[in-house]
Amino acid sequence: MTDLPTVPTSDPAPDPARPDPARPDPARPDPAGPDPAGPDRADVVRPHAEHAYAHELAALAAADTRPRPPQWRLSPWAVVTYLMGGRLPDGTVIVPKYIGPRRLMETAVATLATDRALLLIGLPGTAKTWVSEHLAAAISGDSTLLVQGTAGTAEENVRYGWNYARLLAEGPSPRALVPSPVYRAMEHGSIVRVEELTRLPSDVQDALITVLSEKTLPIPELGGEVQARRGFNLIATANDRDRGVNELSSALRRRFNTVKLPTPATADEEVRIVTQRVAELGAALELPAEAAPADEIRRVVTVFRELRHGQSEDGRVKLKTPSGTMSTAEAISVIVQSMSMAVHLGDGRVRFDDLLGGIEASVVRDPVHDTVVWREYLDTLAAR
Ligand SMILES: Nc1ncnc2c1ncn2[C@@H]1O[C@H](COP(=O)(O)OP(=O)(O)OP(=O)(O)O)[C@@H](O)[C@H]1O
Ligand SMILES: [Mg+2]
Repeated sequence: MTDLPTVPTSDPAPDPARPDPARPDPARPDPAGPDPAGPDRADVVRPHAEHAYAHELAALAAADTRPRPPQWRLSPWAVVTYLMGGRLPDGTVIVPKYIGPRRLMETAVATLATDRALLLIGLPGTAKTWVSEHLAAAISGDSTLLVQGTAGTAEENVRYGWNYARLLAEGPSPRALVPSPVYRAMEHGSIVRVEELTRLPSDVQDALITVLSEKTLPIPELGGEVQARRGFNLIATANDRDRGVNELSSALRRRFNTVKLPTPATADEEVRIVTQRVAELGAALELPAEAAPADEIRRVVTVFRELRHGQSEDGRVKLKTPSGTMSTAEAISVIVQSMSMAVHLGDGRVRFDDLLGGIEASVVRDPVHDTVVWREYLDTLAAR
């Protein structure tokens, strides 16, 4: 693909890299048009990170005196503070988004300030998607440039497609071109995210290699190219347990710095993660915080950790491990689900027995193997 002719911008063909006033640019909402994230943001089920934490980002930008890489909204120091939490001189509290080793976030942020892309890998539920969204929000102020990797993801999702009605009427023109999120990130010098990189078919992975190594996207139909503006970079996530259908080619892997997100090291750390997210999700659903008492949260986390590690917390009892991952993310949903049941259909208080039902649903994925695992676990619990 790199051998395609690229044409100097003095070419009479319109320069596709130049914003076209006739083509509304979704990354820069039309002030006159409806802004989906605008006045009714309070009604949105799940606001984007840059909206949900807008006050923190604004306070960080105001307090941030360190140098910012080109196009970055914040300095790398401020981005790490946004992720790890802290208190600013003006008193603004930055809540921690990532709970875990600071070094990992520093490596991730430092990578994005270079010309290498960032690959976050880890087991399911280790906050890969969550961290990538917050990184994009803090660095570019926009976490919405996203390609979801599936077996059906086509090359046009990482390059560009065409509006066929326009294409037929006018022939290839910048107005007929439909840019992909990667294209738009290159145009604006911002961060684009690729979820589940290993699920992308290999020809689509190959298209990314050109983008990451040349920082250019050739558009042979228009005899031009998009050259990435400074600030452009890519964050990909990949699961190292549910192996993707397509392994990463080594050529693509070499374009990335990899940061592996671990499962929470200690029970206390995991309890902190779950408590914080349950409080945030509960508040968004208008569930009272007292519905999920701290000791119930700790018990759920203990069950998840024991099953994940195949032994009791004190190491005395060996346990079978279920086929599922028993991730922190699942522990969070078990508790939020029970809170909803308790508040809407019960007496308003979550009980451990109700939680056990939710945990069972997380454990029993394979009805034969996991039912045995769960029965044995309940027996050891009763015996302890
Ligand atoms: N270390 C952590 N710090 C903060 N939040 C965490 C942590 N680990 C998990 N979470 C929470 O778990 C939830 C799920 O995380 P996320 O969806 O990002 O996982 P993932 O690694 O992308 O999983 P998958 O591989 O299934 O896509 C998020 O709500 C996040 O807040
Ligand atoms: Mg994910």
